Amino acid sequence: MLTEQRILDALKEVKDPELNKSLVELNMIRDIQVDQDNNVGLTVVLTISGCPLKATIEKDVVNKLKEIGANQVKVTFGSMTDQERAALAQRLRQEAGAGPGAQSGQGQPPLSPLLAPDSKTQFIAVTSGKGGVGKSTVTVNLAKALARMGKKVGVIDADIYGFSVPDMMGIDQRPTVIDDMILPVEKHGVKVMSMGFFVEDNSPVIWRGPMLGKMLRNFFSQVHWGELEYMILDLPPGTGDVALDVHTLIPQSKEIIVTTPHATAAFVAARAGAMAIKTKHEILGVVENMAYYQLPDGSKDYIFGRGGGQKLAEVLKTELLAQVPLGQPDQQADVDNPSPSIYPEDSVIGQIYARMAEKIVQRLEVQAK
Ligand SMILES: Nc1ncnc2c1ncn2[C@@H]1O[C@H](COP(=O)(O)OP(=O)(O)OP(=O)(O)O)[C@@H](O)[C@H]1O
Ligand SMILES: [Mg+2]
Repeated sequence: MLTEQRILDALKEVKDPELNKSLVELNMIRDIQVDQDNNVGLTVVLTISGCPLKATIEKDVVNKLKEIGANQVKVTFGSMTDQERAALAQRLRQEAGAGPGAQSGQGQPPLSPLLAPDSKTQFIAVTSGKGGVGKSTVTVNLAKALARMGKKVGVIDADIYGFSVPDMMGIDQRPTVIDDMILPVEKHGVKVMSMGFFVEDNSPVIWRGPMLGKMLRNFFSQVHWGELEYMILDLPPGTGDVALDVHTLIPQSKEIIVTTPHATAAFVAARAGAMAIKTKHEILGVVENMAYYQLPDGSKDYIFGRGGGQKLAEVLKTELLAQVPLGQPDQQADVDNPSPSIYPEDSVIGQIYARMAEKIVQRLEVQAK
């Protein structure tokens, strides 16, 4: 017959998908009952009652218990008390190294372990001189390509007013909040945080400067990112406040500069590059987006001009990482899980992003050795 201990031992292997810790370790399994026919009943106490991952957790628990010989398994769901939630948030914060004692220098409140001096996370800010050139598109596709390579990847939509990452990735879920800690939403293996998750009905964000800087800080201090190898920041257009905040908060961040192929666009983008140099951010390279239109006969039509990306890379003494042609992602490719701005990996543009990701990993991981 199954015993309570065997059941607990088995469930040590079942993790809360968001917290990436075992349900047993999180003290989420309660009231185990077994009868002589090995029918099992138990309660899973969730962090919040409307946990979107309920179905996954139930399936994982049932499967695991059937593996060890359970007959029928009845899972009842409960939710933690406010006190339990607060204690859990506190514990997770401490384990992440951002608890009391892990101050971020000069007596400031603790930020995130990702920003600690010994952090292994590579930060990449995606910038441009002007709007609408494809920063957000590059951010989400690069993030997904890195995740496909098995990297642990996060995205911060640092375009606080003009957030677009959730829509572009097709995320309609909101983050789970435990006490005062926010769990990022995950899609395509990428953890995402955006102001868009906290704004009702797409209403405009009207905060001003100081609040803006605070949001970026909050995206570190209040978000449980877990371990990340790459954090990509989608910056708003231009060389404004947010770029400065990023500099203050993440001086080690590297930059990718996006431009269109026209010479004047590249000239404007050079300003973003000059800003990067002034703030001593290493420029990883230039991405020329909307570089050409691929005609059916295989030839290229340079609709928006030609050579801007290469020229910009030369001016900034960096590499042209990729030239991405015009084209919309094929939405038929993944009808169950659509992401309006993500190119399937087997498409021409998807492959260009995959190669860009490989190049970046090569560069950064060789550099780190
Ligand atoms: N290679 C491409 N081919 C076709 N459309 C593209 C391409 N890249 C981006 N777009 C489209 O161009 C528009 C602007 O792209 P995106 O939002 O990524 O730019 P952005 O630089 O982030 O803009 P903003 O400055 O407003 O934040 C979007 O509608 C996007 O889908
Ligand atoms: Mg954008």
